[in-house]
Amino acid sequence: MHLHSPAPFPQNRPRRLRRNAFTRNLVREHVLTPHDLIYPVFVHEGTKLRTPVPSMPGVERLSLDLLLPVAQECVQLGIPVLALFPAIDPALKTPDGKEATNPDGLIPRAVRTLKREFPDLGVLTDVALDPYTSHGQDGVLDDTGYILNDETVEILTAQALAHAQAGVDIVAPSDMMDGRIGAIREAFEVQGHIHTAIMAYSAKYASAFYGPFRDAVGTRGALGKSNKSVYQMDPANTDEALREVALDIAEGADMVMVKPGMPYLDVVRRVKDEFRVPTFAYQVSGEYAMLKAASANGWLDHDAVMLESLLAFKRAGADGVLTYFALEAARILQKV
Ligand code: PBG
Repeated sequence: MHLHSPAPFPQNRPRRLRRNAFTRNLVREHVLTPHDLIYPVFVHEGTKLRTPVPSMPGVERLSLDLLLPVAQECVQLGIPVLALFPAIDPALKTPDGKEATNPDGLIPRAVRTLKREFPDLGVLTDVALDPYTSHGQDGVLDDTGYILNDETVEILTAQALAHAQAGVDIVAPSDMMDGRIGAIREAFEVQGHIHTAIMAYSAKYASAFYGPFRDAVGTRGALGKSNKSVYQMDPANTDEALREVALDIAEGADMVMVKPGMPYLDVVRRVKDEFRVPTFAYQVSGEYAMLKAASANGWLDHDAVMLESLLAFKRAGADGVLTYFALEAARILQKV
């Protein structure tokens, strides 16, 4: 029996380009910069009032005066956009979430304040009713508890208009009602808000990773054991995500989003490959909480996993990431 003698040396040595920092720097395919980050911030009423969110270490709900230094730091760090989420006074919550359309509500006031003080910082607002409804669902309900679509879209359109009138740069409908992008886009055109961009939460899944966010905006208690599966997407589906993205683009979305982030990077990649439009991902509250908790226990290296997780979004094809790590990551990235 004749045995082939092994090759005296490997045909290829990929390690050659990994040996020195200069070659690693030279051949690196993806880079993360502060410009890739959108910083979600929770706001509430009051002055000089900050309330920590226990399930999101490092995250606080801020009164509007305390929001300004945060905005200032975003500008300094090169973070292009700040995303606003409200924790609404429970006394203002109703079954139809009408407070969402108040032109002098918390979010329109936050938008006006930010755009006055920091005109060059992009401001994004979430369009959905859950912070404003007494039941914590993103829309209005019929007698059986089903979330009504077209009735909800009407309120969402009024909410988006209130944000546009306050001067917001980008509205981000996160409600997953059918036809809301088209309705909002048409209302914007009719009312002359032709520069207001829409980032559609196009592929938003009915995910268990939103738990800490619901603590932050105060909807977890009202939601109880009910979920959002009759409007948010089934985590088992990806073809459906492409269909949702196609609809939102056709209805006038400027940018699309996949949410959650890390467990759905396959969806980010498919969306980017298929449509080649500005594509964003949301590293949601539960993802943040996981990494914070493991780091706090000394089980993971905080800064290393933070940056590795954010780079993964770029590798998957995302143009940017909404992340509660934005400030911490940008502080490090600015130095390198
Ligand atoms: C509201 C909304 C949610 C998130 C963003 N907008 C929660 C939900 O749909 O229940 C989740 C964000 C996060 O978990 O960080 N529609």
